[in-house]
Amino acid sequence: MSRLKTDDMKTIADTLDPIINDSHVQEMKKYIQHGKVSTFDHCESVALASYSLNRKLHLKANEETLLKGAILHDFYLYDWHEKDNGSHDWHGFIHPGRAVTNARKYLKVEDDVASVIDSHMWPLTITKIPKSREAWIVCIADKYVSLKETLYL
Ligand SMILES: [Fe+2]
Ligand SMILES: [Fe+2]
Repeated sequence: MSRLKTDDMKTIADTLDPIINDSHVQEMKKYIQHGKVSTFDHCESVALASYSLNRKLHLKANEETLLKGAILHDFYLYDWHEKDNGSHDWHGFIHPGRAVTNARKYLKVEDDVASVIDSHMWPLTITKIPKSREAWIVCIADKYVSLKETLYL
């Protein structure tokens, strides 16, 4: 992804700062996503990648929905590497739903943002097909960022 301009960074900060400052969102810093990358840093990378993809390819997604959905897409708040009596075995399938529940509870997100979060694991969650351009962008940006994080382990 290319570097973002100062104007873009301001737009991103205006939308994301109120969310990032929430104490529950800060909790994502405690959990590891891939290797040494925290879930918080992963979500931030997906937000920046989604924004860049949208701007570069002129996809005309709503930037607020896109950024909110991206920063909260993995807001499930647990360490999926821990065994926890087997409850995390289905992490890939269940975590989008957990993230939606937390996003609604702590950030009062609307349906458009919840939908972006809920479908980000498609096609693993086969029935949860992305329903908006924002949802498609986050779904693709998440795979791109995850692959990069995994390769750089
Ligand atoms: Fe995820
Ligand atoms: Fe993710």
